[in-house]
Amino acid sequence: MAGYIRLVDPSGRADDGGQPRIDTSVAHSARVHDYWLGGKDNFAADRAAGEAVMAAYPGIVQSVRANRAFLARVVRFLAAEAGITQFLDIGTGIPAANNTHEVAQAVTPAARVVYVDYDPVVLQHARVLLTSAVPGSVDYVDADLRDPGNILREAGRTLDFTRPVAVMLIAVMHLIVDADDPYGIVGRLKAAMAPGSYLALSQVASDIETEQVAEARRRYNSLARETQRHRTQAEVTSFFDGLHLVEPGVVPVQRWRPDSDFVARTKSTMWGGVARR
Ligand SMILES: C[S@@+](CC[C@H](N)C(=O)[O-])C[C@H]1O[C@@H](n2cnc3c(N)ncnc32)[C@H](O)[C@@H]1O
Repeated sequence: MAGYIRLVDPSGRADDGGQPRIDTSVAHSARVHDYWLGGKDNFAADRAAGEAVMAAYPGIVQSVRANRAFLARVVRFLAAEAGITQFLDIGTGIPAANNTHEVAQAVTPAARVVYVDYDPVVLQHARVLLTSAVPGSVDYVDADLRDPGNILREAGRTLDFTRPVAVMLIAVMHLIVDADDPYGIVGRLKAAMAPGSYLALSQVASDIETEQVAEARRRYNSLARETQRHRTQAEVTSFFDGLHLVEPGVVPVQRWRPDSDFVARTKSTMWGGVARR
């Protein structure tokens, strides 16, 4: 079928031929993100959307890199300082540098990580993720964040939700529009977290570089499968309601516990924070 590529992994969502498929006709967030990060798992539609956003907001590449660095610092903090050994990473993305299990297991080799994403290209990479770590310690769930009950059920095969777990929603909540009840989704996840658990979250800001980023969002939304909903610092902070934000609170991601002045001085249009239950 024109515009589609078949995957060899028969365990994912199936099309009429019983194989999962990749729709190359429209941009997907996982693949556009991969393009900005310099990866090779993207197609012409993804590159076109990525370029359109870059033309409106040239800082996007620096911003997604700052977010990846935030992810790594957060996981290191959770594993090394907060003593977390279980991670639920929702909206995993196509593997890049410093994936959650690599950072967590560098600190705690027995750390268990469940990745969740709904993109067939990410699913394709899951096989590699699953075999590259200590057996049994990394799992992958092909699921939609808009059904958190399903994610919790599936992740419960690997993670023990009666013990502390880190739920990670890194650069994914801006892909959940208001009609999909983003605060209800995060609320369901928070309710499943035992005391001592952490929520880590970042998403695109609507109140940093406002005009450029709004134009970038308009262009992205006209070219991509998912619709972006950017949020203010106050709106992002509300995702953490009922939890205790760790210092420095919800800040531009490069200012969340930067490991150097250089990192702190980079730029992003992403709010990020970590909170404890
Ligand atoms: C911008 S990428 C972020 C990847 C990674 N977390 C990072 O920060 O580098 C967003 C990821 O979320 C996934 N995603 C978007 N909406 C989703 C949904 N409703 N359910 C599951 N995954 C979703 C996309 O497929 C993509 O892989």
